[in-house]
Amino acid sequence: MLVKKRDLQGKKHDSSFPFLAINYCLKQAKNSNLEIEAFVYYEKPIRVFMRLLETYFNTAPRGFSSFLPAMKSWISEKLFIKYNIIKQLKGFDPNIEEDKLFFSEHHLSHAAAAFYPSPFKKAIILCMDAVGEWVTTSAWTGEDNKIEPIWEIDFPDSIGMLYSAFTYYCGFKVNSGEYKLMGLAPYGKPKYYEIIKKKLITIREDGSFKLNMKYFKYHRGLKMISSKFINLFGHNPRDPKDSIEEFHMDIASSIQAVTEEIIIKIVNNLSLKTNIENLCLSGGVALNCVANGKLLENSKFKNIWVQPASGDSGSAVGSALSYLYIHKKKERIIKNTDSMNSSYLGPEFQESQIREYLDSLDVKYKKLEGNNLFLETAEKLSKGLVVGWFQDKMEYGPRSLGNRSILGDPRIVDMQKKNEYKNKK
Ligand SMILES: [Fe+2]
Repeated sequence: MLVKKRDLQGKKHDSSFPFLAINYCLKQAKNSNLEIEAFVYYEKPIRVFMRLLETYFNTAPRGFSSFLPAMKSWISEKLFIKYNIIKQLKGFDPNIEEDKLFFSEHHLSHAAAAFYPSPFKKAIILCMDAVGEWVTTSAWTGEDNKIEPIWEIDFPDSIGMLYSAFTYYCGFKVNSGEYKLMGLAPYGKPKYYEIIKKKLITIREDGSFKLNMKYFKYHRGLKMISSKFINLFGHNPRDPKDSIEEFHMDIASSIQAVTEEIIIKIVNNLSLKTNIENLCLSGGVALNCVANGKLLENSKFKNIWVQPASGDSGSAVGSALSYLYIHKKKERIIKNTDSMNSSYLGPEFQESQIREYLDSLDVKYKKLEGNNLFLETAEKLSKGLVVGWFQDKMEYGPRSLGNRSILGDPRIVDMQKKNEYKNKK
């Protein structure tokens, strides 16, 4: 099916029911004569609900204003998630029954997504994100088709939440702009590294940590940080419309350094305690590729494999694999390469389909063969034009890895701004 024009209005981190994705998977299964045995949801909603309730009662009466809308949304929607999913699935096939729907725990989904597609028979698995049901950081051992927990750190102590608090403070979108904070870090100096460690977080030698919740608000409301946090650094949170100052670069550099220190300490402790030579990473924090690079230099693990879709999108793969290997106990066949096929798992289109689509839009186009494709692309880029690069299968996860990319010449300083302007016009 070619996506209709209105579906091309890309919505980043779209949380609505994934009709198109399910439709694509069902079609692929049908084309390969595969029967769908189960549908697996990546977390246990009732436990998330219990966390919200418990967090509220621990902090009441503070946070009441955010508690009410959250509860309204839970009671009207999320508590009935099982019913709603089945209802939607029946839209694809009226014969789908309730007993085909399973729920995997949030961090188990991450762990499964990190370990099962990896090329390792045995590995340590580290999952770090904002929060699942309760868990924010977890370590596991994976061997053949089994995954066993080692330890966990629970909400509200969370590296993901800590990093997101600084993402918000520097004027970027929480759960979306963390990569911008990471990208900003090398422009600054870690001037606030000591203050963060002294006031906001206690990091133990084994890497486990405790946040000083007086500086945060996410555990009792919809805001990330408290006024104490703002007073500590002496600046108000940056308005996204305001320019980025040296202060924000220094803040980014500082929280990046603290994050790297926590991860390196956790990983080295796991290596020391278990003597296993392979490490798998998942969870939104594992998208911090700068920290992953530091791990390669500083950890004692021989091999590291990172789930390319480390955030919750990758948990779709993880929850399906946890059903297959843990629930169904299927034997795991380990490939020497990564089973994520470098993340190229998405839809691809035949030349005839592409032509049909371009014709329907009535646009001018020509086909470039062999070297001419690269020569003409390079020429256009060098003239300051932007090229949409589209080939083969689409990447699964948040990373653009050369099959669906927007290319521009990085030597042109205002390249990004220039094209943001063009897009708005
Ligand atoms: Fe997660």
